[in-house]
Amino acid sequence: MKGLILSGGTGSRLYPLTYSNAKQLIPVANKPILFRVIESIRDAGITEIGIVVGSTGKKIKEAVGRGGQWGVNITYIQQDQPLGLAHAVKVSREFLGDDRFVMFLGDNVIEGGISSLITEFAHNDWHSQIVLTRIDNPQQYGVAELGDDGRIIRLIEKPKNPPSDLALVGIYMFDKHIFEAVDGIRPSARGELEITDAIQWLVDHDYTVHPFINRGWWIDTGKQEDMLEANDLVLEEIDYTVEGYVDRDSKVGRRVCVQRGAEVINSIVRGPSIIGENARIINSYIGPFTSIGHDVLIENSEIEHSMVLEESNIRNIGARIQDSLIGRKVVIERSPIKPKALKLTVADHSQVGIL
Ligand code: TTP
Repeated sequence: MKGLILSGGTGSRLYPLTYSNAKQLIPVANKPILFRVIESIRDAGITEIGIVVGSTGKKIKEAVGRGGQWGVNITYIQQDQPLGLAHAVKVSREFLGDDRFVMFLGDNVIEGGISSLITEFAHNDWHSQIVLTRIDNPQQYGVAELGDDGRIIRLIEKPKNPPSDLALVGIYMFDKHIFEAVDGIRPSARGELEITDAIQWLVDHDYTVHPFINRGWWIDTGKQEDMLEANDLVLEEIDYTVEGYVDRDSKVGRRVCVQRGAEVINSIVRGPSIIGENARIINSYIGPFTSIGHDVLIENSEIEHSMVLEESNIRNIGARIQDSLIGRKVVIERSPIKPKALKLTVADHSQVGIL
């Protein structure tokens, strides 16, 4: 079997972070989501992986390379425009050949691995397997309606009146018949070739599509709240180690990971949380569910339930920062320069909450 990871798209719901980086490279608990996806596929025994890239392809290639660090072989597939998930399958035809494959959205995070799913698909003659999960807001996802016998009746993309609460998780397994399906469908009202329409095409043409109901958590990291939620859930699962330096005046909880070269000086760090490589936490409070990225400085400040990406500096902030997603190389500091005022350089589409 082969793996296909979709890492094109625009990531417009995560502007401004995705102006300067690919959504799939945003680190959750200090590891890019895309790396987590590659690891899940590799752990399921698949070594031939194609990554569909779009306008952020250069960044993705720089970060992932040829896959040697995971012991896999990566092939890049260029998608010139984000014309939909089924379009991404279409442009990957040469790479996929006649092989069965698992397709994984490069911005999705799922609990545990996918090994059992892959094994199940490999040992059955189903033409496709899809993964469904029960959610509270099915209107925002592809939704499945199942019959009394558990078989799929129909799939609808972002329905106004969802027939069930079973949403399609961003992991799909297909054989070569999916190419007939993607050739057989037309773009949707939003101008995309929808994967739900392609799967519906398989169902309508009597191909077997097996629904697997996932019981663990799954997050599609489209928006800021989703990123923070994925960060919370992954922080609950990571291994806690102290590889950096914690001085005697600091209190670091049990569920904290202090990565190599990090320093915690006269500070409190409550878990679950992670302090990145070479980060420095000085006279500060880091609350639960916080990821402090590599080379970040937090000094005389308090931060909780937040993500701070690489090389940012937060200094002398009087109020506690909470529920925040702070990008790379950001500087937030109390300014002594008069007049006493807020002085902001904020990128397009940023959101700033002020006390
Ligand atoms: P989406 O989150 O549906 O789309 P997007 O990344 O363009 O985000 P936004 O709606 O905020 O602009 O995409 C899901 C995943 O699939 C994501 O990893 C990007 C990838 N993708 C492609 O590779 N090609 C495509 O044509 C599309 C639409 C998405």
